[in-house]
Amino acid sequence: MCPAPAKSNSQDEDQLFLLLRQLERAPKANQRALAAAIGVSLGRLNALMRTASEAGLILTQDRDGPDRRQRFAYALTERGVSEKNRLIDQFLARKFEEYASLHAELTGSVSDIVPLKYRSKLMQNNLAPIPELYVSYDSALKLKLEAAELTSWDLKPRQICDLELLMNGGFNPLKGFLTEEDYNGVVENMRLADGSLWPMPITLDVSPDFADGIELGQDIALRDQEGVILGTMTVTDRWTPDKSREAEKVFGADDQAHPAVNYLHNEAGSVYLGGPVVGIQQPVHYDFRGRRDTPNELRAYFRKMGWRRVVAFQTRNPLHRAHQELTFRAAKEAQANLLIHPVVGMTKPGDVDHFTRVRCYEAVLDKYPSSTTSMSLLNLAMRMAGPREAVWHGLIRANHGCTHMIVGRDHAGPGKNSAGEDFYGPYDAQELFRAHADEVGIEMVDFKHMVYVQERAQYEPADEVTDGATVLNISGTELRRRLREGLDIPEWFSFPEVVTELRKRYPPRSQQGFTVFFTGFSGSGKSTIANALMVKLMEMGGRPVTLLDGDIVRKNLSSELGFSKEHRDLNIRRIGYVASEITKNGGIAICAPIAPYATTRRAVREDVEAFGAFVEVHVATSIEECERRDRKGLYKLAREGKIKEFTGISDPYDVPENPELSVETENVEVDNCAHQVLLKLESLGLIAG
Ligand code: PPS
Repeated sequence: MCPAPAKSNSQDEDQLFLLLRQLERAPKANQRALAAAIGVSLGRLNALMRTASEAGLILTQDRDGPDRRQRFAYALTERGVSEKNRLIDQFLARKFEEYASLHAELTGSVSDIVPLKYRSKLMQNNLAPIPELYVSYDSALKLKLEAAELTSWDLKPRQICDLELLMNGGFNPLKGFLTEEDYNGVVENMRLADGSLWPMPITLDVSPDFADGIELGQDIALRDQEGVILGTMTVTDRWTPDKSREAEKVFGADDQAHPAVNYLHNEAGSVYLGGPVVGIQQPVHYDFRGRRDTPNELRAYFRKMGWRRVVAFQTRNPLHRAHQELTFRAAKEAQANLLIHPVVGMTKPGDVDHFTRVRCYEAVLDKYPSSTTSMSLLNLAMRMAGPREAVWHGLIRANHGCTHMIVGRDHAGPGKNSAGEDFYGPYDAQELFRAHADEVGIEMVDFKHMVYVQERAQYEPADEVTDGATVLNISGTELRRRLREGLDIPEWFSFPEVVTELRKRYPPRSQQGFTVFFTGFSGSGKSTIANALMVKLMEMGGRPVTLLDGDIVRKNLSSELGFSKEHRDLNIRRIGYVASEITKNGGIAICAPIAPYATTRRAVREDVEAFGAFVEVHVATSIEECERRDRKGLYKLAREGKIKEFTGISDPYDVPENPELSVETENVEVDNCAHQVLLKLESLGLIAG
């Protein structure tokens, strides 16, 4: 294949261009240096200078000064500057032609890159392709092989999200993880070292051990959690950040009630590495593939659909009628098409999972006039940084080809600080965005807080409601209560399809999974009560019931473990893991180990409560009574020193301080004890009355 033939006079013009560019850069250079810089002989240089000067493109001035070899200084005239610009356009147009014919030859189809001269200003801003960090398919294959030799860093989930947006241009102009100089600028005043606006530190945090093994200038492979190589990075910088300063400056407070500050101190490694990234392949997503778009895919979609103005709606929550109303109004106001652009990477802990949300969004999409609205999923890891996050979201949406973005009340708010107050003012995000709107390159559409006006049976902006009208609202907390208790969720609030999806995900408590965790001395009666409870729950039916009794677990799950503190903790954490899985999947787990340590019981509670209720039952039989019963003869052996580390005799037991229930077993029937547990479960709404 041969490139398109060059135009006959293109060599002259290329040389003229080089001359003009060089004179602009170094007007005082001597002729020899000038000729060398543009790669021509002195004779050819003289001819070019004559042409340029006769055409009025350059001015020659006498120059005074000590350097006697250089008698003249040159300057470009206005005409010279515009001729230089014309030659640049012409050069690029020629390259486009070559690219287009190469594209056609290789793929058999027409390239959708729009040549510069045909682009309007707006198209240049939001519809033209944006630079990515990926290499070509062939180079990626080669790099992948070479990278097998490189030191690897296994990326954490948040780093995978960051890397994806670095590689696909979502974080343009970043070309890799921040260097120390860029990081300091971003933390201090939201600017990269070159002055561009960038409010969020995108850093590769690693462990000190890993960092110590890296030499500056070394390439490392960046892998996902299955070991798939996604890219490489040349490590140019390595430093230990002041995390408290980062928290104060970026998130407004060094307070671990803020999810990103908590992450910074408790999850992020203590050393940062920075340097340019080369993209090999995008992280694989198996879910909602057709709904995920890179910035360039969205730009191409907008071009194809002829969407010139696009307003983005950032969200991490399910959409209800108020959201639909406000986004529709925002699009009308901005005379733009609407892009629902939900975050599906990482959002605030405790949010509705993205699988459920996407099904809800799909249901709401039908409620917009057809062809006005689209939805695309953004694999962003949010930081909940309020004002800075709003500006960051704006830059990301601009990179995705949007011209407008809705910014609401308390945009990307992290909730309350440890003193119970809001981290940011409700309109701080709008203010900061407004102050930087020009640089962000996207227009803000202020969120109008919409409320339902009963008399008029419609949503209206809160500030436009007439006095005396009845305003209805259901808060997030109230919605969760109604879901939990299976109560009505009115049609004026949400769409029936959305409510159905949410009910599937959040069935009432009496249909959710939960864990009953018995704890007490050996021989206290845990297993007997747990067995009775299991049978009673199975008799009721509805949910599968699994018993994880101490003895059974030690036979099947923890057969290699003894009774040291370390082994007991491991044993209980395993029980907790299985119980949390059962709870997550809607079953009932009944656990009955001794579980002597309060800290381990607390850790298991946290594991389970991520998915459902955890009911701790202390079987409070005294050690004297257990020893008197000595059903297995173990206490006798323990007293004789034949069994070491025996709980209550030669090993500690932390009495639970706040169990959901404490049962006495002395002179009480097992049946009655199990019944007390059932009554507790009923009062917690976990079984129907
Ligand atoms: S722990 O501490 O929660 O890991 O213990 P657990 O898995 O529940 O196992 C307790 C059963 O093991 C028997 N056993 C001992 N218990 C306590 N201390 C020592 N050193 C010990 N050695 C053996 C004992 O029979 C426990 O059974 P239960 O069902 O509790 O009576």
